[in-house]
Amino acid sequence: MTSPATRGDREKVVSKLPLRLRQELKVRAAQLGVDIQEAVETGITAWRSLGSNLSPIDTAGAESFATFLPAVQWAGFRSDCRDRGVSLIQGLAQSVQVWLDHHPAPAVKRPAIVRRIVVCNQKGGVGKTAITAGAGEALAEDPAVLMPVRVSKHFAALLGDGEGGDDPLALEDLPGLGQRVLLVDFDPQGHLTKQLGHQPLPIGGDSLTNHMAGDAKGELRDLVVAIDQERFGDRLHLLPACTDAFLLDVRLASVRAREAALERALTPVEADYDVILIDCPPSLGLSMDAAAYYGRRRTAEVPGNSGTLIVVQAEDSSADAYDLLTSQIEDMRTDLALELDYLGIVVNHYDARRGYIATSSLQSWMDIKDPRVVGVIGDLKEQKEAVRVKRPLLSYAPRCDQSIGLRALAREISK
Ligand SMILES: Nc1ncnc2c1ncn2[C@@H]1O[C@H](COP(=O)(O)OP(=O)(O)OP(=O)(O)O)[C@@H](O)[C@H]1O
Ligand SMILES: [Mg+2]
Repeated sequence: MTSPATRGDREKVVSKLPLRLRQELKVRAAQLGVDIQEAVETGITAWRSLGSNLSPIDTAGAESFATFLPAVQWAGFRSDCRDRGVSLIQGLAQSVQVWLDHHPAPAVKRPAIVRRIVVCNQKGGVGKTAITAGAGEALAEDPAVLMPVRVSKHFAALLGDGEGGDDPLALEDLPGLGQRVLLVDFDPQGHLTKQLGHQPLPIGGDSLTNHMAGDAKGELRDLVVAIDQERFGDRLHLLPACTDAFLLDVRLASVRAREAALERALTPVEADYDVILIDCPPSLGLSMDAAAYYGRRRTAEVPGNSGTLIVVQAEDSSADAYDLLTSQIEDMRTDLALELDYLGIVVNHYDARRGYIATSSLQSWMDIKDPRVVGVIGDLKEQKEAVRVKRPLLSYAPRCDQSIGLRALAREISK
């Protein structure tokens, strides 16, 4: 039996710690995937083995801090503090600082080859743009800040059949993924551009279409804009749309290897990013071919690094559109001899209150298994509100259920 004041052979200790150290300890422990109590234990052990001439730490305003430590350690630590003539609060602050100094933040994991994620479905209004933006935002979040993530990996649990076994709403505070992300608005409608508070590029100037057609005058990089630098640092960028993309097919009529035109246009900026997401228009045709070609598996690229992310809804009409899309993808794979991976299916606008139609169609998406369901995003007001105020959802409502689910999605496709 474990009493409230003990945990295994650990006892609860209560002291004080300055806010800065409490926050740094919490973030660093999450970044390294260790328990706070183990970090403090390691820090105290290290502190006790060090000399007594450590620099004092400003402990003014220190607040109550409780953790569990091995029973003998705390008693020994108290007596060391007395011997060194420092207060318990000062000793603990120094110990935590020693642990932080010895355990630096891990470097952000960057893909060896830039990840290209093609968000597609020719069916309109399913949420391609919302998922492109949200997944990109989640990938770009600050690795030094903790945010809630839905940790359940078992979407079956959403159906309440208990198959996954864990709570579908279980949350964990995790550090951001810190990826450098480019969102490409590849839809002439320009929804992604407008929802993120930007204007489509003016017709007649340089644009992605002009770069694809080989008619651009300047650099593609000069068209890119940063999104909400306050929240995302300089990690989240957008290549805005231009209505000239409505004429993409005509413009590319005389271009050689047309399906490679998007790749040729984006290659010069690839080194600046870890992930490039393509928000496709609701159509099948040349733009989809060019996007799929861009998302193909390159030589030496690991499976699942790049590919298509298919956004669907939990309703029957989505299934027909899905069949059409996957048969086009299969044709393209054969005709162009591409290796094109499916990164997964995102079921968007999910609302279990719609009853059998919603739950049974979520079940059918999950039954496909390959590609697997990598995200289930609820139908929630915050998405529409964020669009209305033209802000990234993860800035506008970082703790809403949708943001929490989008972070889970970003992690699911980053495995
Ligand atoms: N999970 C969600 N909850 C609530 N509203 C959503 C959600 N996802 C998308 N929406 C809203 O639904 C509408 C259509 O979404 P979105 O524009 O992302 O779809 P789309 O597939 O990109 O459309 P199109 O085919 O026209 O490009 C938008 O108003 C969007 O804000
Ligand atoms: Mg769209």
